[in-house]
Formats: sequence, C-alpha cells, structure tokens
Amino acid sequence: MPTILLTGATGYIASHTWLSLLSSGFEVLGVDDFSNSSPLVLDRLRELCGTRPVFERLDVTDRVAMHALFARHRIDAVVHFAAFKAVGDSTARPLAYYRNNVGGLLSVCDVMQANGCKRIVFSSSATVYGDPPSLPIREDSPLAATNPYGQTKLMGETMLRDLGAADAAWQTGCLRYFNPVGAHESGRIGEDPRGTPNNLMPFVAQVAVGRRPHLSVFGRDWPTIDGTGVRDYIHVCDLADGHVAALRRLLDTAGCFTVNLGTGQGNSVLEVVNAYARASGREVPVQFAPRRPGDIAACYADPLLAQQLLCWRAKHDLARMCADSWRWQSLNPEGFQ
Ligand code: WQD
Repeated sequence: MPTILLTGATGYIASHTWLSLLSSGFEVLGVDDFSNSSPLVLDRLRELCGTRPVFERLDVTDRVAMHALFARHRIDAVVHFAAFKAVGDSTARPLAYYRNNVGGLLSVCDVMQANGCKRIVFSSSATVYGDPPSLPIREDSPLAATNPYGQTKLMGETMLRDLGAADAAWQTGCLRYFNPVGAHESGRIGEDPRGTPNNLMPFVAQVAVGRRPHLSVFGRDWPTIDGTGVRDYIHVCDLADGHVAALRRLLDTAGCFTVNLGTGQGNSVLEVVNAYARASGREVPVQFAPRRPGDIAACYADPLLAQQLLCWRAKHDLARMCADSWRWQSLNPEGFQ
C-alpha cells in the first residue's frame, strides 16, 4: 500500500488521521517539531496500533531536513497539517503565522516537487469564508478571510490551485474543516490545547472536568435560534476518514479538488453546553459575556460536494461528539501527561 507522509503528525486531527490511515491499510510516516503537540501521542498511537509509529522529529520549513527525509523514505503522497491555528494569536503574531503556515507549505511543495512527489492533501478551514452571505456554505461561496490565520489558509489554497494549473502532474485536495471536536473512542488521544482553550468544546470539557469554574458565552444577542453562536461541529474521526477518502481520490483520479468537511448541521453554543452536560453527567455553568471580536453569528456547511467527490459523509452526531470528548477529558484531566 502507498506510504503517506503526515506533517504536524502528533497534532489533534493528524493523530486521528494517522489511526484511520493505518486501519485502512496505508503505510504512514509522521513528522512533527512538537511546537504545539506532545511526544506522548506517539506512545498512545503505539498502544492503539500495536506497532511503533514511523516518526521523525523535524521542522517542515527546514528544507535540508525535508530533502533528507525524502531520500530515506518512499513517499507517495503528503497530508499537510503542520500549521499554527489560533485566530486571536494570528492577529497578535502575523509574521509567525505567515512564516510557519505559508512558508511551511512552500517548503513542503518545493521538496515534494524536487523528489517527484506530486500528491498533497491540504488542511484548510471554513474560516476562509469569513462571514458567509448565505447558509449553508457551498464551496463556491465568496472567500473572505478576516484574520491572518484565515489568510494563510487562503494563500495555501491559492498556491496549490496555481501549482495544479502550472503542472497537471500535481494532484491537490484542499479540505475546508468546519469545527472539529470529539476524540477517538478509546479515550487515549484527543484535543489537548496548551494554555486557555480558544475553542468551545475543549473549554466546555475543562469546565466539566473541574479545571475551570464556568464557560463564558460570547454573546447571546446573535440572530440565531437562542441568541448564541451557531457552528457546524464535526467529529474528529469523521474528519480523519474524510482525509482517507481524499487520499484515495488523489491516488485514483487526476486533477485537483476543494471540498467542505462538515456535517451540514448547525448547533448553538447553548445546545453544545446542554449536550455536554447530558453526555458527562456534569454541570457546565455559563456566564454570558460580550461578543468576541471577529466572531460571526452562524456557519455551517453544505456537505454535498464531498459526498459526491469523495463518497464520504460525516456519521457521528453531537451526542457522540460530546461522549467521546468527555471520555478523553475524564481519562486525561490534564491532557497528555
Ligand atoms: C465556536 C462558538 C464562539 C469559546 C475557530 C476558527 C476555525 C477553526 C475552529 C482552526 C462561537 C463560542 C467559543 C468560548 C464561546 N480553527 N465560544 N466561548 O470561532 O467557529 O472557529 O476554531 O482551524 O478556523 O475560526 O470556533 O470553538 O472558537 O467558537 O462562547 O470560550 O463558540 O463565540 O460562537 P470558531 P470556536
């Protein structure tokens, strides 16, 4: 079976994709610099797979190290996860985000091209849509990144589009994630944000497990079902399977594609809080706070194109997302230790 290189391999979505690829019969080579993930993920993957993960520590912007990697391994395709991903942090540190996210993709593509490897799946994001004029969001909706993180994702997509147009041998798949949540059913890997979680579900999980006193709900006057923000939450294992489906298409079919990876279902902050309280059996106290700068009222996908192109659709519902997230959080109250 083909060998797939995962960059950012010990991160949240990549580690779950690693498991999906192995269970689908692929060979996997992972690289990461541990700038935003723990080496302990490798121990958990070994426990779950029964074999030692094939891994090398490196920074994808280091072209010399990347060339040496390609010289030691036969690599049939790359899934590029390595990137910084915090919206607020990107506004404070734009150069770091452009250097790491755009520079990292450029380095990976340069080295792939020099080594004759021209299949890449790119981790993009629904943040490229900005504040959508209509819902659900289709792939031909207007693109309007409103923060440096979103701009780096938009630039990455543009780079790959131009690369595919310049050289038909390149096959690229851009996956626009909506809101990834949950954890592998084993509870042995999951989302482990450093410091204060930016995102809703890991924050709710830390309230439920007693690490934080309450959740601040950013706005209750949005034009939504209950006044709180609505998003398309997708189980990280469904997302991982979407990457396997995208790779299968790249390995079987010429050309490039960009698809949404979402459920098509929107849920409000309060619906998530209530679902989490039910799944965990724990109270999740909330306090209402002002809107967060840059937030939007609602965002959820039209998932049809991924169903058509990848023969993939999300299977897990919000209750399952919360149950799996809670299992991970309750078994690992302090994350990877
Ligand atoms: C979801 C909802 C908040 C935290 C961002 C990025 C996106 C992707 C996912 C990387 C909103 C509300 C949140 C809290 C709250 N990241 N909320 N209290 O903003 O939709 O998307 O993360 O790829 O690119 O833009 O996700 O989880 O931060 O917020 O009320 O403490 O929860 O206002 O309505 P978001 P989120």
